[in-house]
Amino acid sequence: MSNAKHNVIPDATLNCFAAVPRGAEELAAAELVALGISDIKPGKGGVAFRTDRAGLYRANLWLRTASRVLVQLALFPCSSPTELYAGVYAIAWQELITPDMTLAVDCSLRDSTLTHSGFVALKTKDAIVDRIREACGQRPNVDTTVPDVRVNVHLHKNACTISLDSSGDSLDRRGYRLERNEAPLRETLAAAVVALTGWDGSIPLADPMCGSGTIPVEAALMAAHIPPGLHRRFGFERWLDFDSELWGRICAEAVEGIRRVPLGLITGYDLDGKALLLARRNTVKAGLEGQIHFFHAALQEFHPEGDKGVVIINPPYGKRLGEEDDLRELYCQIGDIMKKRCRGWTGYVLTGNLELAKYIGLKASRRIVLFNGAIECRLLKYELY
Ligand SMILES: C[S@@+](CC[C@H](N)C(=O)[O-])C[C@H]1O[C@@H](n2cnc3c(N)ncnc32)[C@H](O)[C@@H]1O
Repeated sequence: MSNAKHNVIPDATLNCFAAVPRGAEELAAAELVALGISDIKPGKGGVAFRTDRAGLYRANLWLRTASRVLVQLALFPCSSPTELYAGVYAIAWQELITPDMTLAVDCSLRDSTLTHSGFVALKTKDAIVDRIREACGQRPNVDTTVPDVRVNVHLHKNACTISLDSSGDSLDRRGYRLERNEAPLRETLAAAVVALTGWDGSIPLADPMCGSGTIPVEAALMAAHIPPGLHRRFGFERWLDFDSELWGRICAEAVEGIRRVPLGLITGYDLDGKALLLARRNTVKAGLEGQIHFFHAALQEFHPEGDKGVVIINPPYGKRLGEEDDLRELYCQIGDIMKKRCRGWTGYVLTGNLELAKYIGLKASRRIVLFNGAIECRLLKYELY
């Protein structure tokens, strides 16, 4: 039973959109199918899907590769400020936001007559607060950092979609990362990389340049059946129609399914002791204490045991001038070590530098384009016979 008082979003079917880093759309679609959601349309940069409130909560809790889940409120043609204002004002905002709540508006636009995202966000906010003032006599305040309700306005080819952001903070903020080391991978990308390798937890997985441990931690979360969102809060928890009983049930079900990761299954190595300290702390915070083995060692000492497994390497890219010279040698060694010491394993290298990748000197059997924020990367696969 829903404890909803305000129910402007009907319980039956929600039109949702999971925003996904480019290259991971099919993975997110597969994740949604695994959650029992069948009405799915993968597109560029995300997956549209239809579900109910329980599906929305589950998607936020479980999606490993999506960065946020939006719930659509309205879709209307919009090529002028007047159309924008009228379209936003038409929504019954007073049923979603009370004057004592705070809001923020995010905007993205592409190929539209209105081209200034700051202006579009401001105009949207004006229409929302005007509608609430009209209905309640008072208006809510804006809080751009921790708002109660985050509204998303998206303009594409003069079609305007107004959505509520059910995730709040981006979903790559799992809550286990305490500090950021120099070049951490986004958690969503690390999860996408592990999923793309097809690793299912039945063979070892090693990351010889693990830094703060994002790849081993994401792999361990999968192997342990821990939902990536278990240790964080979500935007929908502040909504007026938040169904705490339903949410409690969904979380309890998830916790029941958690299991321990067998010792020795997942290993991480790095020569930077400070990064490893972060990796160990992140592991504990993620609820995986003692379930990932970390070693303070250079790649040159890496010698995995066992006749099969998956080795994933995310070497430095060398963004600063002069660094590339030093890194050429490292990329040569990566190729050498994979070839000589990882026989029977499958190797993956994730890099944002294709020039350096050539120095690996092995023929990649697959090359997958992925984005780490704005950096275009390749995940290269090597069969190591
Ligand atoms: C791009 S970062 C990896 C980031 C990591 N995936 C994360 O999420 O934090 C590259 C890592 O390689 C490590 N590294 C560089 N040279 C190394 C070497 N010769 N042996 C082992 N680790 C090395 C660095 O210390 C750094 O942590």
